[in-house]
Amino acid sequence: MIETIRWTEAGVAMIDQTRLPREESYVTCTTYQQVADAIRTMVIRGAPAIGVAAAMGVALGMQTAESASEFDNICDTLAATRPTAVNLFWAIDRMRRVYAGLRGRPVEDVRARLIAEARQICQEDIAINECIGRNGAALIPDGKTVLTHCNAGALATAGYGTALGVIRSAVASGKKIDVFADETRPFLQGARLTIWELQHDNIPATLITDNMAGHFLHSGRIGCVIVGADRIARNGDVANKIGTYGLAVLAKENGVPFYVAAPISTLDLSIRSGDDIPIEQRAAAEVTHVQGVPVAPEGAQVANPAFDVTPNRYVTAIVTERGVARAPYLESLPNLVK
Ligand code: MRU
Repeated sequence: MIETIRWTEAGVAMIDQTRLPREESYVTCTTYQQVADAIRTMVIRGAPAIGVAAAMGVALGMQTAESASEFDNICDTLAATRPTAVNLFWAIDRMRRVYAGLRGRPVEDVRARLIAEARQICQEDIAINECIGRNGAALIPDGKTVLTHCNAGALATAGYGTALGVIRSAVASGKKIDVFADETRPFLQGARLTIWELQHDNIPATLITDNMAGHFLHSGRIGCVIVGADRIARNGDVANKIGTYGLAVLAKENGVPFYVAAPISTLDLSIRSGDDIPIEQRAAAEVTHVQGVPVAPEGAQVANPAFDVTPNRYVTAIVTERGVARAPYLESLPNLVK
C-alpha cells in the first residue's frame, strides 16, 4: 500500500504530493514549522492526512520544546495552516487532551506519549477507511462506471482512502467497475493523484476534464458519484474540493446517486449548516499557471476558493465507519456519533 506519512527517528516523512506523478519522493520534516509548511503548500493534503500530519507535528515540536508553554504555540501554528478540513482541528484537539492528561509527568514520558498518540491516530485512520470501504461497497452498482472528484484516496489519508477506499472494497468484493476521475482544476488532484493511485492498484481508470462530467452523467454510463469530504455540517451539508457542488447538481439532474465517504472525524456537529464552514482561498498562481506554466495573461484577476459546499438535498448518503447515514441528516448524523 502507498505510504502517505510515517513517523521516523529522523522526523515526519511524507510522500511529496506536489511532485507526483512525475517523481515518487519523500520529504522528512524535522521541525513542526516544516510540517506546517508541508500542509500549507500541499506536500501533504486531504482532510484525514493533514489531521495525521498535524498530530505528528505536535509530537515533533514537543521533542525539542524547552518549556511546556511552547505547546500552545505549536498547536496554534499547525491549526493556522488550512481552515476548511475539520480533521486538522480534531487531531490537534485530541493531542491537546492527551497533553493535558500528562501534567506533572517527566518530560521524556510526555514526549514518548505524544509520539505514541500521533502514531495511533495514523494507524486508526487506515482501519477506519477499511471500515468505510466495507460499509460503502454495497452501494456501488456492479458493471457500471464510478465518477470521483479530487483525490480521496490513500494519499489523502493515512492509507486506503475514503471514496477510493469504497471503490477498492467494491473491486475486492468482485464488482466489475471502472472509474472516471475528473482532473480537478486548479491543483489537479484527480489527474495527478487519483489516476496514479488507481493505476497502482490496477483499477481501470479514465481521466476526464472537469467540464466533461455533465456529458458523461447524462450518457447513462455512470452508476454513481462518490467523493470525500473536508467538513460535514450537522444538517448534512458537505464541504469538499471546489467543483463538488456542480457534480452533485448534475448527478441529481440525471438521476445518478451522489455518495460522500468520510470518517466520523469529518463531521462537525457544532455547526448547523454549510454556511458556517470557512472556505479556504488559495493563491492566484494556482489558477493562472499549470505546473508553473502561465495559461492566463499577466495581471488577470483571479478567484480561487479551494472548496465549495454541497447542500444536503443533493447527497444521497454519507458513508462512515459507523454506518451509512441518509436524510434527514439532522437525525441520522447525531445518531451515528452517539
Ligand atoms: O485541497 P485538498 O487536496 O486537501 O482537498 C482534498 C479534498 O477536497 C478531499 O476530497 C477531502 O479532503 C477528502 S480526502 C479523504
